[in-house]
Amino acid sequence: SSLKYLLTIETTCDETAAAVITDGLEVRSSVVSSQAKLHEKFAGVVPEIAARAHLESILPVLDETVKSAGISLAQIDAIAVATTPGLAGSLLVGLIAAKTLAVVLRKPLLAVNHLHAHIYACQMSAGRNVFPCVGLIVSGGHTSLYRCAGPSEFEFLGGTIDDAAGEAFDKVAAMLGLSYPGGPSISAAALTGNPKAYTFPRGLAGKQRPFDFSFSGLKTAVRYAICGPGKPLESAAPLTPQQVADLAASFQAAVVDSIADKTMRALRETRLRQLCVGGGVAANAALRERLKRETSKIGVALEIAPLEMCTDNAIMGAIAWERYHAGKFETLELDITPGLVR
Ligand code: KG4
Ligand code: ZN
Repeated sequence: SSLKYLLTIETTCDETAAAVITDGLEVRSSVVSSQAKLHEKFAGVVPEIAARAHLESILPVLDETVKSAGISLAQIDAIAVATTPGLAGSLLVGLIAAKTLAVVLRKPLLAVNHLHAHIYACQMSAGRNVFPCVGLIVSGGHTSLYRCAGPSEFEFLGGTIDDAAGEAFDKVAAMLGLSYPGGPSISAAALTGNPKAYTFPRGLAGKQRPFDFSFSGLKTAVRYAICGPGKPLESAAPLTPQQVADLAASFQAAVVDSIADKTMRALRETRLRQLCVGGGVAANAALRERLKRETSKIGVALEIAPLEMCTDNAIMGAIAWERYHAGKFETLELDITPGLVR
């Protein structure tokens, strides 16, 4: 029969996720177990805690995924797992689960690049071909631009040289005394702030590194605006709610400016007519509106996956069907590659 089932596993960072996807790219089931609560008090993902939490949740998540797809494990035709980039301990849990299933079920093993998958999430949500496109990934761990000629042809254009966009939101939120994760709390505070109250730097704005990002200078500039250069943050006078709002709005404007400027440049230079955006920061209303306005001005189609498909999930692992059909199977030698391969 033509109906085949692909089991996808995603454990690159702090969500344990699995999905069952048919050959027609229909999602049969999708389960995401988030560890956000465990990392909250550290205002960021703690790798050791993440790995342990994956160990605890991987079997229940796999169980629930297969059960809610209404199939048995024996009906799975292939197993895909995200192997790069990500946290080493987290990636290993997914990899070992996938290898074990491949051995026991005697089914092919497929590797997923987590960042390519984030762009493929747009293909899944759009339900149409989105390639060729420019792909933008803005998350807690990544800020990257790709030229995507096809669903298996990704060319890395550039990325952050220090913090990821979401990471900058999280760190600045902590400085402003706002809650974690920082993205939603900063964008809420920014609503009543003046984005022009502070002049913050737009990292790597020149033509030298057109598609690379830098947010660490911006982070330092916010810190200096709070407490003055070279002084500890604790020494600063308490911020008024209006100051917090103005700092949040000015910071957000700087992040949105650099992301939008570099993305629009990528569209101009590649002459591609489709933009696909993934990652948790794609939830940011100011960024969405800016990209919507600028793409519509030049007649470029914009696809931003709904939030549950922007953040880490296993549905986007459907990209493994592309490798399945191309016969790109892995051996049991398959290993993780935690770092970003450009
Ligand atoms: O993709 P994601 O769930 O996590 C990983 O990177 O794994 O993205 C999480 C990031 C966090 O840094 C969070 O602060 C940011 O996305 N985020 C936002 C917003 N909602 C979430 N950043 C800006 N504006 C938002 N509304
Ligand atoms: Zn991700």
